[in-house]
Amino acid sequence: MKQTVNFLVKAKESGRKIASLTAYDYPMAKLLDEADLDFLLVGDSLGMVVLGYPDTTSVRMEDMLHHTRAVARGATKTWIVSDLPTGSYPSPEAAVENSALLIEAGADAVKIEGGRERLRIVLAIREAGIPVVGHLGMLPQRVREEGGYHIKGRSEEESASLLADAIALDEAGVSAVVLELVHAPVAEKISRSVKIPTIGIGSGPSCDGQILVLHDVIGLFPWFRPRFAQVRADLAAEVTRSAVEFVAATRSEK
Ligand code: KIV
Repeated sequence: MKQTVNFLVKAKESGRKIASLTAYDYPMAKLLDEADLDFLLVGDSLGMVVLGYPDTTSVRMEDMLHHTRAVARGATKTWIVSDLPTGSYPSPEAAVENSALLIEAGADAVKIEGGRERLRIVLAIREAGIPVVGHLGMLPQRVREEGGYHIKGRSEEESASLLADAIALDEAGVSAVVLELVHAPVAEKISRSVKIPTIGIGSGPSCDGQILVLHDVIGLFPWFRPRFAQVRADLAAEVTRSAVEFVAATRSEK
């Protein structure tokens, strides 16, 4: 049975920390569906860890729909959030149309990067009855303009702007907000100032929950590991070891 939309706010009110991982395909989604996660994110990070692009900006709606369908086939109990990818929300109308496609593909909510500059879009999606998760701090869809992945909110000005963005998203009715690479004291202040839960990634321990890219946690993308990732398995080594053993066994057959 899927959660109803306000379960994330209720978790924050009760003081329970929210835990989320990304998922991109059927078997992982089916396995993660048994892990009692609060939600699965079909993140546009799939562009990097599944499709081999250097960043998320090449991911298109067709990729998100394809992977959302696969995740929805595997995860029948856990709430699924899907990213609106780069270029899919140039106007409120396009955002609503693309959000509806993600919901039809099996998502329960959509995630959109940005703060006050996206308010019209967020409000339009909410008015269409679609739950929205916000995303503030380092915005991967802007990584090229920003020249890399940097901590946000170290200056007074940036910190005040992030807080104003979070309050605006809260008032616009988003279900939660991801804080990516936000200076930890600022993430803490935002978490205390809004009623929606903050879901941190590289933003310190005081957020109301944490999200990580699955491949970082299970060690399936050894070529780049963010410093904040909690690596709990080394599946990359297991994949290579199993394949090497298979090759050796096959070639030793008479
Ligand atoms: O695409 C993604 O995986 C994300 C997480 C980094 C939160 O947006």
